[in-house]
Amino acid sequence: MKTTAPRGTFDLLPEEVLVWSWVEESIKRVFHTYGYGEIRTPIFEHTELFQRGIGETTDIVEKEMYTMTDKGGRSITLRPEGTAPVVRSFIEHKLFARAGVTRLFYLGPMFRQERPQAGRFRQFHQFGLELLGEEGPMADAEVITLAVDLYKELGLTDLEVHLNSLGCAECRGRYRTALLSYFSQTKATLCESCQDRLERNPLRVLDCKNPKCRELMKEIPSIQNYICSDCAQHFTQLCNYLDEVKVNYEIDSRLVRGFDYYTKTVFEIINQDLGAQSAVCGGGRYDRLVQECGGPPTPGVGFASGFERLLTTLEQKGKLPNRSLTPQVYLVVLDKKYATAGYGLGTTLRRQGIETAVSLKVKSLKAQMKTADKLGASFTLIIGEEEWENHQVTLRDMRGSKQIRVEWERVPEILRKELAEKAPDPK
Ligand code: HAM
Repeated sequence: MKTTAPRGTFDLLPEEVLVWSWVEESIKRVFHTYGYGEIRTPIFEHTELFQRGIGETTDIVEKEMYTMTDKGGRSITLRPEGTAPVVRSFIEHKLFARAGVTRLFYLGPMFRQERPQAGRFRQFHQFGLELLGEEGPMADAEVITLAVDLYKELGLTDLEVHLNSLGCAECRGRYRTALLSYFSQTKATLCESCQDRLERNPLRVLDCKNPKCRELMKEIPSIQNYICSDCAQHFTQLCNYLDEVKVNYEIDSRLVRGFDYYTKTVFEIINQDLGAQSAVCGGGRYDRLVQECGGPPTPGVGFASGFERLLTTLEQKGKLPNRSLTPQVYLVVLDKKYATAGYGLGTTLRRQGIETAVSLKVKSLKAQMKTADKLGASFTLIIGEEEWENHQVTLRDMRGSKQIRVEWERVPEILRKELAEKAPDPK
């Protein structure tokens, strides 16, 4: 039997979970400040949702989905992303019938069968948001500003925002014709998959990573030249809003993103130091997705950010907090005679919210003190012969030289006082 996690997946050990939780709390705080409520959707959905939502000719749907047939003969897929599930839920629960726009955020694992490498996993984690029900560019600006503010809150100030517009269906129709004409002479030299895409969905050719295809795309026309005046105005207004709140961005006319649902705005937030997988965040507007999934016409815009890539970025830039699982107190019991009473005292402390580690076996003082030290306990409580006879315990400060005897009944009270004195001043 294999004793390693499946390729492209990993375990999070307790210390790592502490750090992740800290990051999650910061993320939730910012989402709440902007008025977003958390939504939790299933880990798997009907396969059709992703086929329709993300697009049949995208890399994700063509090559990367974990799809299986369940015992009832239904095709189900582990979610490769969060937008289509949120849209499905928005329609199912008729959230569109509520007043105003709907602001939702989510956090959780996603699954894509990609080739694992640094920053790319098969089970990875995203946090993201979707703003549904507003077509104006201020919504796009809000979403991008929130992402930038969130990274700032975590101490990241030098990430790059790359921005583009893919226009509406009409703009895309014109661009499609331009792409077909651009590749008319070189079509036969494109890779097989690109040749197929050129027929079915020419825009997806731009996702190809094949060096030969990339070379052929060097002089490719920019989509910006095919954008109608309405879409151009939307983009200009978005830029004005971002300028107003001092969000820096670069216009990147090659940015198309790997999903068919995008209309108008697309963006990515990049950390160049991450190497090949440099996008920590990606998003955009999707004004047709709700309708395509069976709901009423509802515009939407959102983003998702990779947790792992964010964590690596925070680590690279020295912004990760030092978190460890250290007990406040370590209880040392020196003889079986009072082990039961010692267990009782330890439990009383735990029930009062004091983080207490208790040795499950009676060992020598030296061995137990060594463990307490290794765990980083702030205090030890020692119950030895003399203490037992006097109905007391010894309280030792592991960082200072203080050592006092405390009446058994007063242990929680004295300990709380000592711990409060040790606690760092709240800022
Ligand atoms: P995406 O660009 O596919 O967009 O993913 C968003 C982010 O998830 C990426 O920028 C990256 O940080 C992370 N990510 C993606 N794939 C992997 C992987 N295999 N391993 C590690 N991290 C990964 C979406 O998923 C869209 N649903 C975003 C969106 C929301 N658009 C509108 N609303």
